[in-house]
Amino acid sequence: MKKILSILLLAAVGMMAWAQTGPEILIPKPVSSVILKGSAPSGLPVKEITGSKSFRKAVKDLPDYAAQEAYLLTVGIKGIKIEALGPEGLFRGRQSLEYLRSMAGENGRIACCEIFDYPRFRHRGLMFDLSRHFYGKEFIFKELDAMARLKMNVLHLHLTDDAGWRIQIDAFPRLASYAAWRPQPLWADWDKNGHLCAEEGSPLAFGGYLSKDDAREIVAYASERHITVIPEIELPGHSLEVLRAYPELACLDKDGKPVFTSDLCPGNDLVIDTYKKILDEVMEIFPSAFIHIGGDEAEMNSWRECPRCQARMKAHGLPDTDALQSWLIRQFDAYLASKGRRLLGWDEIMQGGLAPGAAVMSWRGTSHGIKAAAAGHDVIMSPTSWCYINRNQDNPIAGGGFAGGYLPLEKVYSYNPTDGFDDTYHLLGLQGNLWAEHIPSVEHLEFMAFPRAFALAEIGWTPQALRNYDDFRGRAVILADYMRSLGYNTFDLHSECGDRPQSREIIHHLAEGCPVKYITPFSPKYPAEKEASLTNALQGGWTYVEDHWQGFEGDMDVVIDLGDVKKVTFVGGYFLSCLDAWVGLPARIEVCLSEDGVNFTESAKVMNQSVAPEKGSSYNLLGAFFQAVPARYIRFKAFLSGRIHEDWIFIDEIIVK
Ligand code: ACM
Ligand code: ZN
Repeated sequence: MKKILSILLLAAVGMMAWAQTGPEILIPKPVSSVILKGSAPSGLPVKEITGSKSFRKAVKDLPDYAAQEAYLLTVGIKGIKIEALGPEGLFRGRQSLEYLRSMAGENGRIACCEIFDYPRFRHRGLMFDLSRHFYGKEFIFKELDAMARLKMNVLHLHLTDDAGWRIQIDAFPRLASYAAWRPQPLWADWDKNGHLCAEEGSPLAFGGYLSKDDAREIVAYASERHITVIPEIELPGHSLEVLRAYPELACLDKDGKPVFTSDLCPGNDLVIDTYKKILDEVMEIFPSAFIHIGGDEAEMNSWRECPRCQARMKAHGLPDTDALQSWLIRQFDAYLASKGRRLLGWDEIMQGGLAPGAAVMSWRGTSHGIKAAAAGHDVIMSPTSWCYINRNQDNPIAGGGFAGGYLPLEKVYSYNPTDGFDDTYHLLGLQGNLWAEHIPSVEHLEFMAFPRAFALAEIGWTPQALRNYDDFRGRAVILADYMRSLGYNTFDLHSECGDRPQSREIIHHLAEGCPVKYITPFSPKYPAEKEASLTNALQGGWTYVEDHWQGFEGDMDVVIDLGDVKKVTFVGGYFLSCLDAWVGLPARIEVCLSEDGVNFTESAKVMNQSVAPEKGSSYNLLGAFFQAVPARYIRFKAFLSGRIHEDWIFIDEIIVK
């Protein structure tokens, strides 16, 4: 009986905790919150006041963007009040109040408090990649609701890329009727099968596009939430789908035939005319000050051969293909400026010289953004190491798919956009990018986006001095649980595993610290700790791109020197698979032992019985046992399976016992 009573008591305490809430749960954490005496029922009427003298005075020293979003939320015993300069601030204040009300519940109470709040940065963005997988428009409304809760204010839509064009353009109808469709629903299958398009309405046509009305609806829905939608129309790279629909925009080979790389031909005036017309229609739909023109990862190979490109370079005295790209970007910089808009591009647009009015989205680390800002250009930071939330956030065995990098919540949260800047005047803010090559569904997209977007939102809003990961994580658990109750498929922080346990331990063995001779070289792209890597007693993290995983583009063959003859009972290698990145498990290994390094007398061949999983990663030890064979030299070979798209072997340690 006593036990039952105490359980009831605990439950009651739990319910009370649920039923009263306060500003300490908010994400992003407010600039200032003062808890007052008492608590108020959550259903009290709300008074909204704009432009009062006292509020104007309170925000007079803030930069204009911050003042416009600033709000003062007062929860008193008798009533609730939100003050702001105008609708934007009121909206942000309402978001705080709505969350407090939701968490208190209908009959719950909110601690009396005064919250004065405004953003740190003016650009707090998220990017969705609609090209690699197209999920229709409905999900965007749902994600805009989530962004509004987080006080994020920019939705960047990556609307065009090799794998599909996603916006109706009347002047070029085949962009929607052909470039928007492909024979495979999954990007990975499209990537393995020739990068083709398909006719809309044909039996094997997957994809789609936003009609102009769809896009206008998205813009309007976002605008009601004080979120700007920035459209991205990629040029000159990532444009294969456009060339499939309009081959006349491609470079020419020496026989005068179009070349189907991903690049448009900057030598062709038709490309410039076409994209000006496309941008005209895009600007008609999207009122954003910035129009994103991509600019990343142009291959530029076709430009070196193409007679039109070569003629353009000669005519304008352009020394190289970087300068040719820069020339092209300048055409659009000037064009957008003539329409009262501003060009925004990935940081490659700096190569060959940055166009005068251009703003830069810095993704390849932070240095490009820092440099552009120092040169007087506006910048938005989205460096891969903190802001690429398409990377795995946790144990890739448990879910999350592709393991092309490990970016847990804590790492995202650790980012401070001002790091490295001498002067932050041109630093507009930050953005999380959710590339969708391996994200085929909205459920998966939400799993990747949340809760990491919470961290990005707080980085963008909350003063750096107030940020603390442990405090944030507690709030993130509550918000993620709440969002799941609203139907968002957020990653469940309760089950977060953290770093790969093996990567935190040292594994002692006989070959520890011993020199390794490479008969086949490791790939310079994935050297790990080079010659020391396979015997340094350290194992890798969840993904092949991390320290300690060494990559071989093909079979591997190495010899370890133990220094002295030792009795060997086991030799094995720890391998990783990640088929999405074409990293397979070896089909077999071969281990040979020798006392003198010349005569390898004992050998074992071991077939791999495990199959690499189609999705996610696996970690496998593959080894051979010996009956205490004396040996100083150990030759260790691993052989690829020979299956298509299993081109790499990744190994973090060879252990010898
Ligand atoms: C990019 O990730 N290629 C901008
Ligand atoms: Zn060309």
